[in-house]
Amino acid sequence: MSDFGIIGIGRIGTSMARNMSSKGIIVSLYDKSHNFLKNLKSDYPELEASLVFDDICKFISSISKPRKVLVLVPSGSALDEVISILIKYLDPKDILIDGGNTNPNVCLKNHQTIKSKNLFYLGMGVSGGVKGVLEGPSLMIGGDTNAFDEVKNIFSQITSNTINDSKSFEFFGDSNQGHFVKMIHNGIEYVEMQLISSIYYLMINSKKYMYDDVAKIFKKWNDIDLNSYLLEISLLKLSEKTDDSYLLDRIDDMADDNGTGRWMLKHAIDLGCSVSMLNSAIDSRFISNDKNTRSKANKLIKEDKKEYDIDFESLANAYRFCRLINYFQAFLLMDSANKSYRWNIRISNALNVWSNGSIIKSNLINTLLNDYLVDNILDDTNIFNNLNELKPGLINILNTSLTNDISLPCFNEALNYFNQISSSSLSTKLIQAQRNYFGSHEIKIN
Ligand code: 6PG
Repeated sequence: MSDFGIIGIGRIGTSMARNMSSKGIIVSLYDKSHNFLKNLKSDYPELEASLVFDDICKFISSISKPRKVLVLVPSGSALDEVISILIKYLDPKDILIDGGNTNPNVCLKNHQTIKSKNLFYLGMGVSGGVKGVLEGPSLMIGGDTNAFDEVKNIFSQITSNTINDSKSFEFFGDSNQGHFVKMIHNGIEYVEMQLISSIYYLMINSKKYMYDDVAKIFKKWNDIDLNSYLLEISLLKLSEKTDDSYLLDRIDDMADDNGTGRWMLKHAIDLGCSVSMLNSAIDSRFISNDKNTRSKANKLIKEDKKEYDIDFESLANAYRFCRLINYFQAFLLMDSANKSYRWNIRISNALNVWSNGSIIKSNLINTLLNDYLVDNILDDTNIFNNLNELKPGLINILNTSLTNDISLPCFNEALNYFNQISSSSLSTKLIQAQRNYFGSHEIKIN
């Protein structure tokens, strides 16, 4: 009999199985596509003791009770299908763990379905990608507490050490809260990716730097406070060549997404919170996909790009500023969700679980945890002082971008947001007056 079952043996499922097996945890593996299972044992000798099935009933019978089954399939119809099969064959008190990227709103519905069959449910956000999951992922968990007690021991063996010397898994609360924290993680990830990409774009378009120069700057930054996993992988990709030419010269610029950023944006809209940095990061992916409009407009507007200088101290400070605003917006959204839904997600716990194993692991996360009041960010005068000091750098970079027709998604939004939240009087006064005129909407007179 095995200790643990995994359904969905794609790239992440394979890494998870290898990670568990290397810790002596016997895993049963199943995938609807039998092709994924064929060469598993020969490709990965650490899977020698694992049990591989192309029949789901045999797979379920092979797991010792209470069964723990981790489902790693895309949300939507694939997940719905797996859940409908599992609730038929699992026994009461068995545990179904949804480890894909699932919209928190859907988790609640899935939990109800699973609970009605006397099964336990855990909604678990998994971060780390193929390598991170193999070496020790970051796991964000919500759901039935007794189910969590059953799996804790296994998760403590397969995760990484965090900045606070705990393991990189955390229980956040109800069935949707683990996936909510993962969704926020992904929103932060989108913005971090866009910021790095905007910097690369600014440098390359100046006509003064090549990919290796950008990689050199990123390398320098990666040795100081600006260090992050995403910066590290970006510098590697900048130097990558394919058939003697740089990958970046050949790669298509249409950027995909799997929906998690959109979910976060929708949650923020529902809660009336600004996540303008994320909005800009998503927009830039959408615009990149609209090739038709882009090529028509490009033919009409002749690009006339000239050389320009970049002040690297300003650029580093602009980057620092934008990263802080990104986290600031995410914290306020989490805070608002806690208040509106009566949750108790501790932002410091989220940061701790992201501090190792996750895609967004960085020096900044450690600094935020050590030096800032992340659970009450509005009480932290430090962050406002820091932003104020960094602001001239951002203005300098925005000037460069505006005078040279370079779009820097997320950078403009960071400055706009900061100027607005730190202002005692906004343009919205006149909006209220307009609403009052055409709709007799009530206005507050101070
Ligand atoms: C992680 C990532 C991962 C996510 C990819 C792709 O933490 O390991 O967040 O879960 O699926 O980053 O996201 P997009 O396709 O939306 O860019």
